[in-house]
Parts: sequence; structure tokens; C-alpha cells
Amino acid sequence: MAHSVLIAAPDQTTTYELRALVGELDDFTVVDVVESSATLAETIAQREPEIVLIHEQLGPTPVPQLIREITARRPGVALILLSEEFSPEVFSSAMDAGARGVLRYPTSLEDLGTRLTATAEWVTQMRRHLSSDTNDNEGSTRGRLVAVAGAKGGVGTTTLAVHLAHLAVTRVAGRSVCIVDLNLDNGDLADFLGISHRLDISDLAKVADDLSAQTIGSAIHRGPTGLATLVGPARIEDVGEVGDRETVLILAALRRQFDIVIADCGSSVTPASAAAVETADEVLLVATPDVLALRGVHHITESWKRLGARTVETVKVVLNDVSRDSDIQPDTASRLLPSAPLGTWLPSLQKSLQHGLNHQDPEFVRAPAWWSKIEVLAAELGVLPPGTVKLTDGAPRWSLMKPRADKPRKPKKSRRSRKTAQAEAGQATLEFVGMFPLILLILIVLWQVGLWGVSAAYAGHAADEAARAAGLGMAESEVRDQALDVVPGWFRGGMRVDVDAPDHVVTVRSNLPILFPSVSIDGLHYTSEVPIIEEDQ
Ligand SMILES: Nc1ncnc2c1ncn2[C@@H]1O[C@H](COP(=O)(O)OP(=O)(O)OP(=O)(O)O)[C@@H](O)[C@H]1O
Ligand SMILES: [Mg+2]
Repeated sequence: MAHSVLIAAPDQTTTYELRALVGELDDFTVVDVVESSATLAETIAQREPEIVLIHEQLGPTPVPQLIREITARRPGVALILLSEEFSPEVFSSAMDAGARGVLRYPTSLEDLGTRLTATAEWVTQMRRHLSSDTNDNEGSTRGRLVAVAGAKGGVGTTTLAVHLAHLAVTRVAGRSVCIVDLNLDNGDLADFLGISHRLDISDLAKVADDLSAQTIGSAIHRGPTGLATLVGPARIEDVGEVGDRETVLILAALRRQFDIVIADCGSSVTPASAAAVETADEVLLVATPDVLALRGVHHITESWKRLGARTVETVKVVLNDVSRDSDIQPDTASRLLPSAPLGTWLPSLQKSLQHGLNHQDPEFVRAPAWWSKIEVLAAELGVLPPGTVKLTDGAPRWSLMKPRADKPRKPKKSRRSRKTAQAEAGQATLEFVGMFPLILLILIVLWQVGLWGVSAAYAGHAADEAARAAGLGMAESEVRDQALDVVPGWFRGGMRVDVDAPDHVVTVRSNLPILFPSVSIDGLHYTSEVPIIEEDQ
């Protein structure tokens, strides 16, 4: 199959010449041409070319800046700069920006063919490498980016982003994890984690073209678990510093430094959040089971599609705050969504989550049922390495007893974590003590019902036996003895056998015991009547 090429040149003559040249090469086909940098990113998103031939005079955005943005956003696309001047300076500035090569323009068919062939080989290898990254992030030099967005405000986006990041950093020792607040004008990540830091994302945005590991290091805050946090703009006037270009460059720099990068994108579609959604390996869209949030899923996925950021099929929708009392249950919700949500949903656990909020630390959320769900979610998103978690089908399971799951493992056992474990053991004991009267009551009721069942069976059996004896013409006392013989001793005391010869019926009446076989009250009895059938002796 021919390799796809996009031509970006400043005028029609140049694009025409280049199109004609590429058209002469059998292995390459021109998928589109653009004459302005303004439409370049959008055309690349739509056409997904393997190679972009970019002329140095394309404007208005300076070409090195364009190359830097495109390579950060689309690592699987190769850019070749066409330059009239072929100096070492031009070459090194193009390569520094991320171009795959430089060609003197005007170029010969032979030079163009050689350069395109070499670049196409690189693209093939790069794309293979990137697709294996998506399946297995181990050993990759590119960290995994997960964008978490909300279908509307207040659905638990930040809660899930923070808890996924907390789990990722505490569950697997040695993993570097960074969480970024991209809910720029409304973010509260710093409050969630009790962080105040001198620098924020807008400081990185100001130097987005020159992001060194050191610059990133000074802008992030490191918590006691090792979680790195890049907080949102502290001042509203700095929000404008973080556009889509800056976001792409910052996220690309973070991915070079961290194994996992989680972005809290909030619930508004902004240039920054759309850029994160576009470049992310996985997008988690959080919704609650109510009409507004479910409609929000439609709105936000349509917006992403219109912007060319992502299609709905590549978005993972998760339901949060699900309770038995909700009008809309997960099964119904999935019918109201544009694509099926994940089988895993998060239960409504206001009290436990508030504990974490009030201490500004997810460690204080001590609900194993919650963490086991977050674990499954993390595995679905590739935040935990494969095999760390046994995936369940996520089907709703309401039970009397709270499900128990493994507590997320810590890199090392601190005194605090031991205290936490003791506190949990104490909590489990308290839960059992609280449940004990209910369990006892259920056992008593079961015992009583069983006792009455056995009594009724004995009375019926005795009546059968008495009717058989009476049918054989035995005397009334013998009939009574036959009936008493077939029941145990404890039952005989409360049992009375009557033979009604004229009516041809035997009646056995027995007292019904209360809790103990020999205890009964007047008026509570069971009667069994069996007709006498005369038999030949
Ligand atoms: N599963 C849940 N059960 C009960 N309460 C929840 C649940 N998930 C989140 N909450 C609560 O809902 C509130 C809002 O959560 P959060 O801040 O994470 O939402 P958000 O979508 O990030 O909101 P915003 O749009 O303001 O950024 C918090 O008090 C949080 O504890
Ligand atoms: Mg939030």
C-alpha cells in the first residue's frame, strides 16, 4: 500500500510542483495539501498522513514551532522540512524541533524518493512501537497518559483521577506517577491533596518550548507516597497561558519523565482539555446515573468528535455514585448512553469519601469495596500493569455483608499503615458485633420454623399409622399405642389421638413447641385428620 503524504507549502505553485513530483513515485500518494499553518493540525487529524512535507515559508506560525507541536501531538507522523537554504544551522534547528529530515527545495525526484523511502521505514517502525506501547507500557520510554473528564460538574472526576493516581503510585513499587490539574479555571486538585506549591501549570506553559527535566521537576509537588502533582493556575489571569499547544508540550514532557500521567480535565471542553483528550492513551469519562449526566456524555463526546480530538468508541465511560435508590440503574443507563459504559461502576460512598476529603488524603478513604472497584478500573485503563488485578465482570452485586478486598499495597510498611490495618481490623470486629443480634434473630426464626415443620410431619405420620390400625379393626387403645410408637418420646407428651368411629376418621392433635421441644402454650396446636379405610384382615 502506498504511503500517505501531506504537503504543506505557502502557495499554490509550490504545492502543485510538490504534488506532481510525489505523484511520480509509485510508493507514495498525496492525501491533501494545505497552504496555511492555521489548518495544518486539523488536516493532519483528519487525514492521518504518515509523512508531512513542510515548506520553510509556511505561515503564519513559525515552522520550527509547528514541527514541535505536531511531533509532540502525533509521535507517529514524520515531518520533512523543505528549505531553500541547506546549512548546518537550518538542519540542526529542524532536527531539534523534531523533524525527521531536511530536503533542499527545489528538489530532484531522486532526492525526494530517497528521503521519503527512508522516512516511510521510520514511520512504519515508529507506529509498530507506539501500538505495542498501547498494549504493554512496560519498557516503553513514553509514559501512559490517561485523561479523566466529567460528563458534568460534580460527578466525581477529581475523586476518580486522584484515587487512580494514588493507587498507581502505592500499588506498584517504583512506579513514577504524576497527576495534572487541567480543569484550569475550576480545578481543586491542590485542595483534594492538601497541596500548596509555589509554581503551577501556567509557569510551565510560559516556557513550554523549552521544558527541561529540571524545569518540570521544580514545578511539580511530590507527596509522601511519591505522587507528583502539577497543580492548576493559582491566579485566574494565568489560565489563558495554558492553551492547547502548551498543554500538548507539557504533557509530552511529563510523559518522558513519568510512567503514568493522569490529567483531571474537568467537565468543560477547553483547548487544554481537548488537547489532553486528543493525545491521551485512554480517556475516562465519568458520569452519574442521572439524566443530566447521561446527556452530558452525549454533548461532550460530540464536542470531542467535532474538534477531531476523539471518537466516542475510543472513550471509556464509567458510572459513579451508583446506589440501589437511584431511579436509573446501570443497566438502564447503558441504554441511554452513546456507547456501552464499563462493566465496573463505582458505588455511592459519601461518608467514606468525605473522610478522605476532610483529611485531604485518599489514604483516609477506608472502604475496601471502593478500592477494589478503583483497582479494576485502573487495570482497565492500563494504569496498573497487566495481571496485577483479577478482573471481574463488574455485574452489580448487592449483598448483606460488605465485600472485602485487598487493601492497596504500600511500597513499605510505615507505622501509619500498620495503624490503618489495625483500625480496619477493629472496624471489622465492630461491624460483626453490630450484626450479631440480627444474625441471632434469623437463626432463632429458622429454628422455630424447623421445629414446627418437624412437629407437623410427626403428627401426620402418627395419624396415618392410627388410621391404618383402626382400619384393621384394632381397639381404640391399640390404635393410640400404634400412633405413639411412631413418634419420638419428646413429642408424645403433647399429642392426643381420637378415633371417631361413626365418622370413620382418626384425628391426631399435637401441641406446637416454642423454641424447645417440650415447651408449648395452650391453644397453639396442629391437627392432622386421616380417614379410616376398612381393610380385610
Ligand atoms: N461515589 C461517590 N459516592 C458519594 N459521593 C461521591 C462519589 N464520588 C464523588 N463523590 C463526592 O462528590 C463531590 C464532588 O466530587 P468531585 O470534586 O470529585 O467531582 P468533580 O466532578 O471533580 O467536580 P467539579 O466539576 O467541581 O470538578 C465530592 O464531595 C465527592 O466526595
Ligand atoms: Mg473536579
